[in-house]
Amino acid sequence: MDAAAYEAAVKRVEDDPEGYWRDLAKRLDWMTFPTQIKDTSFHKHPFHIRWYADGVLNVSVNCLDRHLAERGDQVAIIWESDEGDISDNFTYRRLYEETCRMANVLKAKGVKKGDRVTIYLPMIPQTAIAMLACARIGAVHSVIFGGFSPDSIAGRIQDCDSRIVITADEGLRGGKAIPLKRNVDEALEQCPDVTDVIVIKRTKADVPMKAGRDAFYADLKQGVEATCEPEPMNAEDPLFILYTSGSTGKPKGVLHTTGGYLVWASHTHELVFDYRPGEVFWCTADVGWVTGHSYVVYGPLANAATSVMFEGVPNYPTTSRFWEVIDKHKVEIFYTAPTAIRSLMREGDEPVKKTSRSTLRLLGSVGEPINPEAWLWYHRVVGDSRCPVVDTYWQTETGACLATPLPGATAMKPGSCAKPLPGIKFELVDAEGKPLHGATSGNLVITDSWPGQMRTVYGDHERFFNTYFSTYGGKYFTGDGCRRDEDGYYWITGRVDDVINVSGHRLGTAEIESALVGNENVAEAAVVGYPHDVKGQGVYCFVTLKADVTPTDILQAELKGWVRREIGPFAAPDVVQFAPGLPKTRSGKIMRRILRKIAENDLSNLGDTSTLADPAVVDDLVKNRGG
Ligand code: WT7
Repeated sequence: MDAAAYEAAVKRVEDDPEGYWRDLAKRLDWMTFPTQIKDTSFHKHPFHIRWYADGVLNVSVNCLDRHLAERGDQVAIIWESDEGDISDNFTYRRLYEETCRMANVLKAKGVKKGDRVTIYLPMIPQTAIAMLACARIGAVHSVIFGGFSPDSIAGRIQDCDSRIVITADEGLRGGKAIPLKRNVDEALEQCPDVTDVIVIKRTKADVPMKAGRDAFYADLKQGVEATCEPEPMNAEDPLFILYTSGSTGKPKGVLHTTGGYLVWASHTHELVFDYRPGEVFWCTADVGWVTGHSYVVYGPLANAATSVMFEGVPNYPTTSRFWEVIDKHKVEIFYTAPTAIRSLMREGDEPVKKTSRSTLRLLGSVGEPINPEAWLWYHRVVGDSRCPVVDTYWQTETGACLATPLPGATAMKPGSCAKPLPGIKFELVDAEGKPLHGATSGNLVITDSWPGQMRTVYGDHERFFNTYFSTYGGKYFTGDGCRRDEDGYYWITGRVDDVINVSGHRLGTAEIESALVGNENVAEAAVVGYPHDVKGQGVYCFVTLKADVTPTDILQAELKGWVRREIGPFAAPDVVQFAPGLPKTRSGKIMRRILRKIAENDLSNLGDTSTLADPAVVDDLVKNRGG
């Protein structure tokens, strides 16, 4: 897309929204093409988000069947194993057959349209197959990232009342085995309603199998047919649930539906990455996160792309791994997270320069703000100053990309996600919700709906409204702070709520606090993020121990391990500081602003502490800063 086409598209959505959005839907194969296009209101009365509401389609048909005639023998998924010893190509035909088989296995287990299926798998092709198999029979998948702990798994299974779990014996990442089946077994002690666990063999490790509940997929699929009638789905029928952290309470089940989600995922995959038929596209995200859903599986497959699925990590066996995989599979488009770029940048240029990367055409970044230094290194060293960088801003809630520079249409500024895509209406507002104009900073809201927007918080529609639409009446609040410059470019400055972003993983500070106070030694805890060179943000915990407990280094380490086990390794605290007291207002509210300043070591800026119930606690916290 060039600049004129971008302007024309922006204008068309203004002048003829129905026509624009209707045309966009034509990129999919519908069983019944919708006549109702957009029916949305962000206001409490009425409040609803519906897209293409009378359309009928099936996501797996759009990702598989419709490509068979022309591209049946084209590779859909290139799988690259952790060790690099195995790569396996799944053509569209093979993926279609495997999907139908798994769909038939699920059906045989009694799974029906609307049932929730939990998927706790590593980065193996069977994960995409399991997702597509659910889509084929109208089941709603809930993928849980393989880094989550048994407790986190249990909470997610209970929340959506899922009766069936698909997992693997073990995962493999960076040469280390991840005990997936063992984690599921432990989780299921809290989930008596789960009737079936399907186990895929990845490492062939010996795992205990519970009679009557557990079965190996290899056994279940024996003799199963490789065709399966797709379930006709209404555009607004649920496709998947994905749990994500917010500023309060338990993780929310973000619900995405069938038609609008696939329109937006496939449209943005083509537009943002300028995807051209036959190209190899590699998004390094784990399918346990939304980026993997939209840009490893659904977007690329809907567009008949060749999508690389990588099981491993950037620095194993060597820090050249990413670049070697690019050469091995002749990757044209590469999409990764700033945290990976920063960690590889620390290794210098040599591990990159010894590879060719000559096939690369475009680079992408996602998940957190990218600092200009990392952006420039990515552009100059990885892309040999030849590949544009798309810095894509979006969220689990938004389904797919919202804002990015478009090569050819928008000039790039390192660190800016440039401008919203046609149809996405950004606005900056002040704390009272008053719209701000021109070059300024404020809270980022979106004033109108787009097809890929989440539809509800699973099982709690009220929470959906309250979380996103009540702060700035009738507008979707992203939770992000943002600056707009004199050229109208947007610069995301990070979350303004109590959500932190650690290595591109989203965490609620409230969740970590609740894990900490679950430890018998802890009376109270307050958690904040602070700038971290590689991870973007680190986890800083202020912990008040119970009166009879002695603060020791051992206990400090124990609490870090405790959070790892309660939530998952990626949530492990960087710093635990024992605090005899926390700074509170006279009404008992913890002053997080002060804690953030202490964690950031910005001590000259603590602001007014005179309103605190006990101003002396701040002196102690400053004196005993950890790090
Ligand atoms: C939060 C959403 C985007 C899908 C993966 C993460 C931050 C995301 C960018 C970017 C600056 C970004 C925001 C957002 N974020 N992309 N390009 N520049 N910040 O999805 O886990 O739902 O997290 O990630 O703070 O709100 P998520």
